[in-house]
Amino acid sequence: MAAAADGKARTVADIMSKPVVTATADEAVADAANRMREQRVGSVVVVEGDRPVGILTERDLVRLAAARATGSDLVGQWMTPDPDAVEPAAEASSAFAALAEHGYRHIPVVDHGKLVGIVSMRDLMRIAQIQPAESLAHEVPRGLEGVIVAETDIGDVRGLEGFYHYRQYDAVELAETRTLEDVWYLLYNGELPSLAARNAFTEEIAPLRVIPPAVLDALPQIAESAPDAPPLDQLRTTVSLMGAALGFRPSLDISATELRQQALSVCAVVPSLLCALYRLKHGFEVVEPEPDLPYAANYLKMMKDEVPEPDHARAVEQYLISTIDHGFNASTFTARVITSTGADLAAAVVGGIGALSGPLHGGAPSRALGMLEDIGTIDKAEPWIRDAIERGDRLMGFGHRVYKTDDPRSVMLRSVAERLGGPNVELAKQVEQKAIELLAELKPGRKLYTNVEFYAGIVMDACGVPSEMFTPTFASSRVIGWTAHILEQAADNRLIRPSAHYVGPPPPQPVPAAE
Ligand SMILES: CC(C)(COP(=O)(O)OP(=O)(O)OC[C@H]1O[C@@H](n2cnc3c(N)ncnc32)[C@H](O)[C@@H]1OP(=O)(O)O)[C@@H](O)C(=O)NCCC(=O)NCCS
Repeated sequence: MAAAADGKARTVADIMSKPVVTATADEAVADAANRMREQRVGSVVVVEGDRPVGILTERDLVRLAAARATGSDLVGQWMTPDPDAVEPAAEASSAFAALAEHGYRHIPVVDHGKLVGIVSMRDLMRIAQIQPAESLAHEVPRGLEGVIVAETDIGDVRGLEGFYHYRQYDAVELAETRTLEDVWYLLYNGELPSLAARNAFTEEIAPLRVIPPAVLDALPQIAESAPDAPPLDQLRTTVSLMGAALGFRPSLDISATELRQQALSVCAVVPSLLCALYRLKHGFEVVEPEPDLPYAANYLKMMKDEVPEPDHARAVEQYLISTIDHGFNASTFTARVITSTGADLAAAVVGGIGALSGPLHGGAPSRALGMLEDIGTIDKAEPWIRDAIERGDRLMGFGHRVYKTDDPRSVMLRSVAERLGGPNVELAKQVEQKAIELLAELKPGRKLYTNVEFYAGIVMDACGVPSEMFTPTFASSRVIGWTAHILEQAADNRLIRPSAHYVGPPPPQPVPAAE
């Protein structure tokens, strides 16, 4: 825990937020939920006069939605009564310990029975400048969990807090308020664009959406020679071809300006490539990009050959923004490792695509939707999920290496799914709740919640994206994150070359003669 400037340990009073957003037990949950949304807080403390008697959190709202309760239910029916509290004079580290140990995200601060503030995980992280616990590891754990391998100013994920950001901005807020082009600009340039800069950037990107002729000519052959291959595998081959056809040289040998130009070209053309490959696979004509359509609308237009409904274009755009970057995930790390060798940009992007294609990383959304289809109705959820976990299967769309609380992307996508509606949304919310309960029962202490992939499939399905295009759609935004990292790595490069602990038979053994 960081000390205050005078050297004394910080107290809860130093870091708590006030005034607290409150509710009363007899008011409607819908009113309390509106207040949470307006004030941008994750909980309300339920009070009788000055005295806290309960707490209502976002998680309670999910339970409520899953139980098909109505917004006119009362706060008192859904709150957690008698929440744990801390005193203002307590050391901030004790609040941190309680938050971390019990998995709370908010603790009321109470002075002689009177509510005086609230401490949230975010307060602690931001004000007390606590390093996330996962960054403190000294030994190298399996899967490099928590190991810091580089410095970046592109963004970060705070797993205990359930928060991630691009540059200095909350990524969810960006997804709710900005266009994909704005966020792409932010990642490349470190600041959000002015109106003039946005227009110039959009104009710069538009012609780059057109597939270069050398690549376009080869697409039918790629599609035909591996007709059953997933579109992402075909993309991997195509990006490789593009790097070679356009003469991408090793990043070590080219200027930052040339590398940036290549990065822009690849990001701009990936949606066009994916849609072209998808359409060729199904025997349709390739649809050319539409320079005047924004990114997501153009993507859906090239996929389905019709201009999408604005709601669908916006929902897909929000999904795309929310998945552009996410710390040192496996594919981003892969892209940086490849760049650290000085290899060309296409090689790094191809590596990223390969890593993303795995079901433990980006390959989960179609499986998560498949799980819902298999479950079919809520009464089958409990036995289905229990069997799966007891068999040792992983529930797709649940669990995360970094998040030990709600994945903010899944929270956002749940609300996008609710906005869109559709047959799967209610079932998904109920299955989510049941799965979280059963994971807590059968995998206690693992802190498994819904990740981005669970609602990604629901949102994309509702927008008419076929399930074989779920992971490719993820790739079409993550390529922006990969390339931002490639540019950062190349700008201040040192070969990434770790070591392994050898555990085989002791060497040197005599080499037996060949038979
Ligand atoms: C994402 C993921 C790979 C992170 O894994 P991780 O940090 O390496 O966690 P581990 O594999 O060490 O798992 C820890 C424990 O939780 C369990 N667990 C993790 N995710 C689980 C899931 N989705 N369903 C059931 N159990 C799960 C593991 O079985 C393990 O249990 P154990 O201690 O009894 O062996 C993992 O949660 C997962 O496989 N999720 C499903 C795939 C998915 O949704 N991927 C998209 C990620 S955005």
